[in-house]
Amino acid sequence: MSILSGKKILLGITAGIAAYKTANLVRLFIKSGAEVQVIMTPASKDFITPLTLSTLSKNPVHSTFYEKEEENELWNNHVDLGLWADYMLIAPATANTLSKMTNGICDNLLIATYLSAKCPVYFAPAMDLDMYKHPSTITSLDKLQSFGNKMIPVTSGELASGLVGEGRLAEPEDIVSFMENDILSSMPLYGKKVLITAGPTYESIDPVRFIGNHSSGKMGFEIAKAAANLGAKVYLVSGPSNEIVNHDSVHRTDIVSAEQMYTACHQYFPEVSIAILTAAVADYRPKNIAAEKIKKKESALDIKLVPTKDILASLGVIKKEQFLVGFALETTNELINALAKLKQKNLDAIVLNSLNDQGAGFSGNTNKVTFIDKEERNTPFEMKSKSDVAIDIMNEILKKIDA
Ligand code: CTP
Repeated sequence: MSILSGKKILLGITAGIAAYKTANLVRLFIKSGAEVQVIMTPASKDFITPLTLSTLSKNPVHSTFYEKEEENELWNNHVDLGLWADYMLIAPATANTLSKMTNGICDNLLIATYLSAKCPVYFAPAMDLDMYKHPSTITSLDKLQSFGNKMIPVTSGELASGLVGEGRLAEPEDIVSFMENDILSSMPLYGKKVLITAGPTYESIDPVRFIGNHSSGKMGFEIAKAAANLGAKVYLVSGPSNEIVNHDSVHRTDIVSAEQMYTACHQYFPEVSIAILTAAVADYRPKNIAAEKIKKKESALDIKLVPTKDILASLGVIKKEQFLVGFALETTNELINALAKLKQKNLDAIVLNSLNDQGAGFSGNTNKVTFIDKEERNTPFEMKSKSDVAIDIMNEILKKIDA
């Protein structure tokens, strides 16, 4: 999943021959999961039709301040369009539009929307090489960047005029990657790696049976998504779970037993800045795994269990700069027990979820947690969907690592 997934992109198209490439650009944005609305300057319609763009964007294309619909004139509110967008992109941006943007010459819907947009604005210039080198254009490009607008550089090559040089619109694929990289690099966890464990572990009794638990893995998967959405590269180590994660920044390792989870966690831990262990790891495993399926007998069956390794505690022993977070599932003396685990396992924080609350815990879609830091401050949250709980937990961790 691209970082643009679910984002609202307002694409402004101006009158350059490269406008024909915007059909592909819109298609790529839609493919990445973004929502797209298009504003065209009136003259750009000579280069590509609004019908093409409305079909590809699945939205009506805006071009004038009002649209005539039979008797009624519909006002196109440039302020609403500007507020709707998470990101605005003007591509191709002609010398004329760049100059109007620079000077606030608001004679069409695109410039009016640009002037009222509060979101980050990207622009991808495209023009002939001599226009591109003209001091007037250079001044516009410099000024727009000084306003905080982000320029997607032109490329060099054959131009529509037949001349060869700088001024070509960046290729649509490169425009999309430029925006993805820029958005990622401005995120709070950009460049950081996060380890997350999720789900149950299964401890084999014989080739067909195991000891397991009812953990769905959902909480850990939601935290993995929330961390990736903050720009982190995530190592998700999961026990058997039906959950799926579809995010470019999440690297999933599937394991079955506590021992395998231990090995995977120790492989990734030295690289990460944050580790969040949500998995419901089995505390015991059968001492011996029968080589053949155990046959039914009249007498009782005794299985000798031995403790598994405590993964969280073992990471607490070796941790250096990592911010280490555990989970605690308690039924009695919740806060006291959770705090004791935090101290025993040398954690920076622990998330307490109580089985006493209806709708909280293992298998449902909601959870109710309290975030406890090592200074013993606790922050209780309301019952929420697990995806919102994941965002709350990541926000608490961000506050701690920024502090
Ligand atoms: N944990 C772990 N490895 C284990 C057992 C637990 O990493 N072998 C982690 C869990 O992922 C969780 C935390 O330890 O983050 C607490 O798990 P919990 O089962 O609540 O606590 P335990 O230490 O196992 O103690 P108890 O079951 O007695 O409450």
